[in-house]
Amino acid sequence: MIEKLELTKYKQIVILTGAGISVASGLRPFRGPGGLWTELAPEDIPNATNLRKNPETIWQIVCELRKISSGLKPNAAHLAIAYLQANASKDHKVTLITQNMDGLHQKAGSKDVIELHGSAFRTKCSNENCDLAAYEDNEIYELNHLPSCSKCGSFLRPDLVLFDEPIPGKEEWLSKRALRDCDLFIAIGTSGTVFPASNFVRSAKYVGAKTVLINLEQLNSSETAFDQEILGKAEEILPILLGME
Ligand code: APR
Repeated sequence: MIEKLELTKYKQIVILTGAGISVASGLRPFRGPGGLWTELAPEDIPNATNLRKNPETIWQIVCELRKISSGLKPNAAHLAIAYLQANASKDHKVTLITQNMDGLHQKAGSKDVIELHGSAFRTKCSNENCDLAAYEDNEIYELNHLPSCSKCGSFLRPDLVLFDEPIPGKEEWLSKRALRDCDLFIAIGTSGTVFPASNFVRSAKYVGAKTVLINLEQLNSSETAFDQEILGKAEEILPILLGME
């Protein structure tokens, strides 16, 4: 039995979402049932080293997403979060941090989404010293003819945070600021395996927030025990929990 959260009790709500929230929209998660990473060879898992050796792999994943993007719709879970944000009174703040790159929260109407791992719909120069700014980009590139930077000639890359890359300063700062004052932390559709997002629950607990996990399966790391774990599909649970039904 899922009980509606007494949301009026909480003034600073932080929501963290992961790939699981977009499964009902037709996207695969990375881990767990149907996980993308279960099919990729280690040398193909997108990290900074592999990107330099083989930028095609990450561009393939991103261009696949760009190809289907127009047909991708936010599901009831995305819409429930957007509803919560839209109906928050002026002295209640709802901060949404996502690990996802699919833009579905924005499509659902969420504002000021903190994209901790970047976006599949932005492109930037792979040369860190180049001053080409990251830009919105829905272009689907031919893998044998990847784009290069108009300023310095280096290859262009998706504006994503790959494994062993740092979280951009702005997104890290915004996340830390929201977590510092939060009194309710809800993690949705994430395996809790990738730092620093996997540590957010500890920060929230440290400041005395109530912590709630909504996920299809239990998390492996037992020490991140949430105050409340609701196992199941986010698209079924969230509308009830956030009082839309
Ligand atoms: N409702 C709720 N949870 C779900 C659903 C659903 N409908 N479907 C799947 N899940 C759960 C899975 O059981 C899994 O535990 O969502 C979780 C998704 O975990 P991951 O695939 O690991 O996604 P995430 O936690 O976002 O990964 C973090 O790792 O690969 C990198 O950069 C990538 O942002 C990603 C990061």
